[in-house]
Amino acid sequence: MLAVVHAPRELAATTEALRAGGQRVGLVPTMGALHAGHMSLVQAVRDAGATRVVLSVFVNPLQFGPKEDFSKYPRTLPDDLELCRAHGVDVVYAPAAEQMYPPGFQTHVEVEQLTQALEGAARPTHFRGVTTVVAKLFNATGPCVAAFGRKDYQQWRTLERMAADLDMPVQVLGCPILREPDGLAMSSRNRYLQPEHRTRATAIYAGLRGASAAFAAGERRVARLEELARAGVAAAFDSIDYVTVAGAQDLAAPGEQAAEHSVMLVAARIGGTRLIDNAILGQDCLV
Ligand SMILES: Nc1ncnc2c1ncn2[C@@H]1O[C@H](COP(=O)(O)OP(=O)(O)OP(=O)(O)O)[C@@H](O)[C@H]1O
Ligand SMILES: [Mg+2]
Repeated sequence: MLAVVHAPRELAATTEALRAGGQRVGLVPTMGALHAGHMSLVQAVRDAGATRVVLSVFVNPLQFGPKEDFSKYPRTLPDDLELCRAHGVDVVYAPAAEQMYPPGFQTHVEVEQLTQALEGAARPTHFRGVTTVVAKLFNATGPCVAAFGRKDYQQWRTLERMAADLDMPVQVLGCPILREPDGLAMSSRNRYLQPEHRTRATAIYAGLRGASAAFAAGERRVARLEELARAGVAAAFDSIDYVTVAGAQDLAAPGEQAAEHSVMLVAARIGGTRLIDNAILGQDCLV
């Protein structure tokens, strides 16, 4: 039976009882508008040993910039609960913003270096909001394992760092990107796309595939790999925030040559919607 809780204390009491009964609690943090990518994270925490799964649905105001889509972000809780029931989620945690951030709230968590470039450069206050809310979710839930998607690659690396630096006793999983049949990475924001933009949006996947194929064939020049990915995205999208090769662990800018485990990351805008995607070169097999 799915339990739905709204208050942090209610969640803490629920998971405390589960742990006392010998259960291992897994956590899947989301902003709702759930899709199959989110459900793959539910399976991932189970595969990592969780016997009960908590999925949080919280559109976190702290991680949106002042000109971003916080107010129009899709909120579809009844559908989300149905999907959670169908996938055997045990607890949905859906707090209101005032429950997360009551008056007087003034404590934040920041990971300093990993958050500077890429998403951090395009969205200056974003990661501070993400790390703060995920730290709160970890504290209220007490999970032994939590799953994040590699679609948000820098977010995953940042949260992994946060958990290590703050001695949080939770295993942080980075899970494969689920894609639509035509290659577009699943994303709640895909529902913003008009049909014409939805068709053009596959250019990101095509670009990543082109760069990955070149890498597999021996191309190591970063400029060339970026150029291969960039050309199609530039033609299809209104603007590009970045098409960049970075170190897979530290996200550092490479020299002229890409290393064996580099990641190619893309962020671009189409019809007012901002999409991100990436591929680990030499590892992710894009077909
Ligand atoms: N296609 C996907 N495959 C695997 N995991 C995903 C995918 N899309 C999102 N996730 C993961 O789900 C978790 C919750 O993300 P979130 O609720 O922001 O969904 P989203 O689809 O990324 O939404 P948005 O499009 O607004 O960013 C994150 O860890 C995110 O990386
Ligand atoms: Mg997201």
